[in-house]
Amino acid sequence: MSGHIEKEAIAKSFSRAADQYDEYARIQHVLAHELLKLCPSQDKKNVLDLGCGTGYCLPELQKIYPQADITGGDLAPGMLQHAKSHYPQFNYEISDAENLPFENESFDLIFSSLAVQWCDDFSIVLSEAWRCLKPGGHLVLSNLAVGTLQELKQAWLEVDHNQHVNEFTLGDDLLMNISDSDFVESEVKINTHIDYHPDVRSLTDSLKRIGAHNITQGRAKGLTSPGIIKQFKLAMEKHRTEKGLPASYAVLTCVLQKN
Ligand SMILES: C[S@@+](CC[C@H](N)C(=O)[O-])C[C@H]1O[C@@H](n2cnc3c(N)ncnc32)[C@H](O)[C@@H]1O
Repeated sequence: MSGHIEKEAIAKSFSRAADQYDEYARIQHVLAHELLKLCPSQDKKNVLDLGCGTGYCLPELQKIYPQADITGGDLAPGMLQHAKSHYPQFNYEISDAENLPFENESFDLIFSSLAVQWCDDFSIVLSEAWRCLKPGGHLVLSNLAVGTLQELKQAWLEVDHNQHVNEFTLGDDLLMNISDSDFVESEVKINTHIDYHPDVRSLTDSLKRIGAHNITQGRAKGLTSPGIIKQFKLAMEKHRTEKGLPASYAVLTCVLQKN
């Protein structure tokens, strides 16, 4: 994500969402399972789930790596509290992907599903992951690129000039960050996934309930008037398909290795 990001606001927004997150995180869970399938099969001893949120992926990682010591790291204390109460068997550490609180060469695998799109600079995320991986270790990560929530963005543009939707980084820039990094690329791709909703309320609610609604600076302040909301809903309806109202996610997925 580009622009100045307030990490405190991000942490607060996700902490507040922790208790209801899993109920509304349909697309996030689908994409997490797709990413889990890409985890290398060779044994791993120390595994970090970076941006682990409610801890949803931690038991899944344990199934793949039964012998591993697994740590959940997240920016949001509320998320980690939730994860700890559900999965007390794992380790937890407040972690910022751009400034990891771990020693060099701590992990054999860093897994991260849809967590680093709120970071200012993806190249720093990559260099921090590289630093904390052991030689031969893997980074299995997904991130969001421009194109994500484009229907919402277009609909709001018809209504006003406030920033209602988070800004994402261009896919080409993310790819460039990867090729400029010290990692060896095993698999890198960008695919668009579409999440369909029956109505506008369901779509915007799902983003709000998981804490991923607009948290960038420059967002509209205060309440939005009923007239504006009506205009926005009409603009969104132009995107309706037979499957419902689409919310696109342009997902960068990568499996990288530190040599
Ligand atoms: C959409 S949730 C994904 C949670 C989990 N990975 C999943 O797939 O269910 C994004 C998570 O990333 C965390 N996050 C956001 N920015 C972060 C950062 N800079 N470092 C670490 N975690 C971050 C949020 O607090 C939130 O828990």
